[in-house]
Amino acid sequence: APQIAQSHLLSLKDYSSSEILDLLSLAAELKKPENKHLPLLQGKVLGMIFEKSSTRTRVSFEAGMLQLGGHAMYLSTRDIQMGRGETIADTAQVLSGYLDGIMIRTFHQATVEELALHSSVPVINGLTDDFHPCQVLADLLTIQEHFGTFAGKKMAYIGDANNMSNSLMIGAAKVGMDITIACPAKYAPKPEMMELAKSIAVHTGANIHVTADPVEAVSGCDVIYTDVWASMGQEAEALERMEHFKGFQVNEGLVQHAHPNYIFMHCLPAHREEEVTTGILEGPNSVVFQEAENRLHAQKALLVALMGNKS
Ligand code: CP
Ligand code: NVA
Repeated sequence: APQIAQSHLLSLKDYSSSEILDLLSLAAELKKPENKHLPLLQGKVLGMIFEKSSTRTRVSFEAGMLQLGGHAMYLSTRDIQMGRGETIADTAQVLSGYLDGIMIRTFHQATVEELALHSSVPVINGLTDDFHPCQVLADLLTIQEHFGTFAGKKMAYIGDANNMSNSLMIGAAKVGMDITIACPAKYAPKPEMMELAKSIAVHTGANIHVTADPVEAVSGCDVIYTDVWASMGQEAEALERMEHFKGFQVNEGLVQHAHPNYIFMHCLPAHREEEVTTGILEGPNSVVFQEAENRLHAQKALLVALMGNKS
């Protein structure tokens, strides 16, 4: 298993470039059909705390744990005492006595950090308002499978500067891939996120840009990525956001400006005819379902690295 210095995965910023590349190599190994059921986590139990909805994250972690010989437990905050005010610190200490790892999907990044602080078992960020590192591991695996390299590749992220674009900027910076975010000025990446990504990029030479012009971002790019305009928790802003993001749809006109062999990516779920047209989502350049499947393989590698017997 890859040697990971960190005990948790709170954000990919804490992982070195070589740790990320090692995780991707292990993911590729575990993806081989003959390795599907390697019992690397025999008898280990992962608890999964969800404060937001999920299809891919829940099912891929649960299936992945089973395939590795372990078990995963779905813990909705609607059911557990945390949802009724039991502290994160107490929850962390109690769960650490039963489990070998905890995955959490929640709103504030600080909640994940608090959980990790008080937990004696690995904590995995399964999405917060700020980051979605597990998705980006799967995305990097997909890009690597498709192009065989990150060197010289350019990603254009079109739309809302959110948890996905934050994590993609960090991921791209770590592997040395250029990334341009095209978004309305009102929804641009926070200055601290730009600083973080740029501070990582100086080590790999990746270029990180923000523009309000989607055509400029897409010009000659290899990867076009988009995500919903209103994330979980922003439902009340959905209509207002739809107005602001009107010019930021990934559609047949926009993709004309990309490299002819570009791939289209989306973490899913997608809102068809909003951030992307059905034609592009289902078109020949789309890799969204390969990308979704790769959640399973990338997370199995992560689980083995964090929860496996260190040797
Ligand atoms: N991409 C992703 O995290 O999907 P879910 O919300 O379905 O888990
Ligand atoms: N930005 C989206 C990603 C969903 C996987 C959200 O946070 O709702």
